[in-house]
Amino acid sequence: MAKVAVVTGGSRGIGAAISKALKAAGYSVAASYAGNDEAAAKFKDETGIPVYKWDVSNYDACAAGLKQIEADLGPVDVLVNNAGITKDAMFHRMTPDQWNGVINTNLNSLFNMTRPVWEGMRNRKFGRIICISSINGQKGQAGQANYSAAKAGEIGFVKALAQEGARAGITVNAITPGYIGTEMVRAIAQDVLDKHILPFIPVGRLGEPEEIARCVVFLASDDAGFITGSTLSANGGQYMA
Ligand code: CAA
Repeated sequence: MAKVAVVTGGSRGIGAAISKALKAAGYSVAASYAGNDEAAAKFKDETGIPVYKWDVSNYDACAAGLKQIEADLGPVDVLVNNAGITKDAMFHRMTPDQWNGVINTNLNSLFNMTRPVWEGMRNRKFGRIICISSINGQKGQAGQANYSAAKAGEIGFVKALAQEGARAGITVNAITPGYIGTEMVRAIAQDVLDKHILPFIPVGRLGEPEEIARCVVFLASDDAGFITGSTLSANGGQYMA
């Protein structure tokens, strides 16, 4: 039977590419999304991948959503914690809402999503947890104290949980994308992109969502069973951790 994979934020941006690549690799995929019903419906029509709506910053919503997916598709073998938002602002202008919004969605979601599937993975002696962190959790980014803190926290989460999961056949890894050509990056002002970002990417271009999706497919595979607690950078050479 096909392994079951859940991708949070799986109907848009990098998440959509991950969902499609996992489906192409033979997984039974479920994509969660938070709010954009129109994009989710279009994604479902185009790909045949079922979509589930809930807020990853809410523990009870995550537990209920995962229960529904397990009832529909079976136990979760692969969890891709991809959902994330930005609320960029220079720190002297950052509000508590901008701080808490990003920490809740990008960092607290890791507990909310992973905790409900963890015991099942332990019992079945197999699991893959893949967390989509960011280059900006590694190098820090002006205008993103909230996002950089959450994404750095994600790497700590991965390293701790990898130690706990190892004997139970569960690998836990992070991928740190650089600047990928998604709506999130296109929202950056063009002059900021041109002046502060593009000149510092040695390969000379933004990344493609599919380039991150292929990393996920590899880390989810049986071939990657000896890789755990690692951070796989895919950033065009912009930062070498
Ligand atoms: N690095 C260094 N300095 C920067 C900077 C950067 N990336 N971006 C802006 N600055 C500087 C500006 O040049 C400016 O300096 P001066 O006053 O000396 O000219 C100062 O910081 C203030 O910048 P702004 O005028 O742009 O301030 P603002 O309040 O209008 O905007 C901002 C602030 C929204 C944070 C804006 O600067 C911005 O969008 N910066 C980019 C932040 C970024 O890289 N976000 C990544 C989003 S994509 C993502 O998160 C995905 C991922 O994982 C990679």
